[in-house]
Amino acid sequence: MTQPIPGIQTIGMSYAIGPRRVIDGIDLRLDGPRVGIIGRNGSGKSTLSRLLAGLLQPSDGTIRVEGVDVWDDRRAAIATLGILFQNPEHQIIFPTVLEEMTFGLRQLGRAKSEAKDAALATLAQFGKAHWHDASTEALSQGQKHLLCLMAVMAMRPRWLILDEPFAGLDIPTRMQLVRHLESCGAKLLHISHDPRDLAGYGHICWLDQGRIRATGGPEVLAQFETQMLAEGARDDLADLAG
Ligand SMILES: Nc1ncnc2c1ncn2[C@@H]1O[C@H](COP(=O)(O)OP(=O)(O)O)[C@@H](O)[C@H]1O
Ligand SMILES: [Mg+2]
Repeated sequence: MTQPIPGIQTIGMSYAIGPRRVIDGIDLRLDGPRVGIIGRNGSGKSTLSRLLAGLLQPSDGTIRVEGVDVWDDRRAAIATLGILFQNPEHQIIFPTVLEEMTFGLRQLGRAKSEAKDAALATLAQFGKAHWHDASTEALSQGQKHLLCLMAVMAMRPRWLILDEPFAGLDIPTRMQLVRHLESCGAKLLHISHDPRDLAGYGHICWLDQGRIRATGGPEVLAQFETQMLAEGARDDLADLAG
């Protein structure tokens, strides 16, 4: 048997909304430990993250994560990758922390008691064992983010896809989450509009209008920033045709 290609591979990946290709023929070959995707508002970042997580079906092309076709094989996909959204309110569905944490494990086919044990072990690992019967509604925004991270990490994914997870968080909360992320053991694909979030990442792709504009090392962040400052200096918010 041939070995699956490690990491994330897309070939000709597109996603159309009506006549418009929001993601337009992207070929990517990415591997961990940390990959950053940078792009401005509306460049297609969230659409890309949902495609890579198997939550959207590509209109064209293929997507493999550690050899798994994430759209066709949902069960293998949820065992391979986890995703964190910008807004934890969109992710949390249960009234208590433990219920939220066990849900994904049950989806993986774990027995009830095994799922509970794994959830409690993850809470303990993050130093949050005392949260188990807390109400999810009562958590602060930063705590909700951490709960989502713990719920995903309890499933031991090989990849963690982060779609602007730090937007709107204050500096201490952001620093705490970064520490948890750096020690979480998953390969990170971190998507952001803010180059500061991706400082120190060795592999960067720049997404622009649904296409990869540049890919390389940290110098891509500098190129992006230069371009953003140039665009910001123009009054293009007045340009309705743009
Ligand atoms: N469900 C949708 N319906 C219509 N347009 C959408 C939808 N989702 C995304 N878009 C459009 O696709 C483009 C890319 O969106 P998105 O992936 O959210 O970008 P980003 O996360 O980089 O801001 C935007 O122009 C957005 O308006
Ligand atoms: Mg987005």
